[in-house]
Amino acid sequence: MQSLLGFVLLALTALAAAVPVARSEYDTNVAAGLRLLRLEKGAEPVWKSEDEKLQLKIDGQNFLDITEVYERSEKLAANKKVAAKKVNYPSISHQDAVNPLLEDLSIDSMKGYLTKLTSFNNRYYRSSTGRDASDYIFNTATALARGKDGITVSAFNHSFTQYSIIAHIDGASDGPVTILGGHMDSINLRSAMSGRAPGADDDGSGTMNLLEIFRVLTEAGYTPATPVEFQWYAGEEGGLLGSQDIATQYAEDGVEVYAMMQLDMTAYTAPGRTPHVSFMTDNVDSGLTTFEKSLVDEYLSIGYDTGRCGYGCSDHASWNENGYPSSMPFETTFGTDNPNIHSASDTVNVNGFSFEQSLEFAKLGLAYIVELTSA
Ligand code: BES
Ligand code: ZN
Repeated sequence: MQSLLGFVLLALTALAAAVPVARSEYDTNVAAGLRLLRLEKGAEPVWKSEDEKLQLKIDGQNFLDITEVYERSEKLAANKKVAAKKVNYPSISHQDAVNPLLEDLSIDSMKGYLTKLTSFNNRYYRSSTGRDASDYIFNTATALARGKDGITVSAFNHSFTQYSIIAHIDGASDGPVTILGGHMDSINLRSAMSGRAPGADDDGSGTMNLLEIFRVLTEAGYTPATPVEFQWYAGEEGGLLGSQDIATQYAEDGVEVYAMMQLDMTAYTAPGRTPHVSFMTDNVDSGLTTFEKSLVDEYLSIGYDTGRCGYGCSDHASWNENGYPSSMPFETTFGTDNPNIHSASDTVNVNGFSFEQSLEFAKLGLAYIVELTSA
């Protein structure tokens, strides 16, 4: 009897402790340099070395690196009591504010940003040149914000070399934040640490779009009704590292987010095809995406279609994962996108790379911010 009771108690304790990854296992593996990866939504995470992780990417196996956020996400899930409330998005009504600002967006200015971004040997998140790229974006955004009231540019540090950057514009009133994101890092899959990875399209294009929109809004002295943030993420290519860290932090802090738009690859259309915006339909908010389609109709000179990554292919997925409304307008129909990414060939000289096209995405990002945050 005694032993039976003991057995039952033991079994119960084992059950209670049946968290997928135990603390001791976690600490030992992290100390050994292993990374905890989720290969599929809802699947048990697995431990891999950095080399194995790179090989997975080469093999085309998708994954999220959840090492940094694992415990925090488990806690968040356990504490989550109410479902996220559904946001309604407005109809377009601020043409008078948006149209003159669109005129200020400049291809020459974007070219200047991208020339600098592609000049780093790579922007790999574990390399010193990846950190140099953070410094460049931080310094550029800081210079644009200099002397402007209510604008702060901050570094968001992670467990690796590169850091993310958040440029925050105060709203006239408090309120949920409208976020425009892109990832600053690039990668050469054949030689991540030292290989050449200009990352002109992936994601130099989105990174320059954000800088250009931030330039136009700060120079115009734009004061939003509610807060706006530009977020340049570190370590996206390592498994959405920077954005998972930030989105998890926002969820932990109870920060309200009105909308999140990710610009990741905005400059390429395969020769012979017609340039258009392709809205991802997975890992996004459908209401927000519908609103953005109306922005394309109103403000862009190109049309749109839809597509699916089929996995968490960029930083919008980190926000979606944390219960926030996110979206991803992409450069072209999924499957006909730039074949040169993740290599030394991702340059502006690729046949099909177009600053004129990327300017349309800058217009979309700017219109998104001003329509959602004008009084
Ligand atoms: N920009 C790509 C994602 C992408 C590529 C979307 C082609 C649509 C078409 C992104 O930077 C990337 O490479 N993401 C990783 C996912 C990440 C979780 C490691 C990928 O797709 O392998
Ligand atoms: Zn990318």
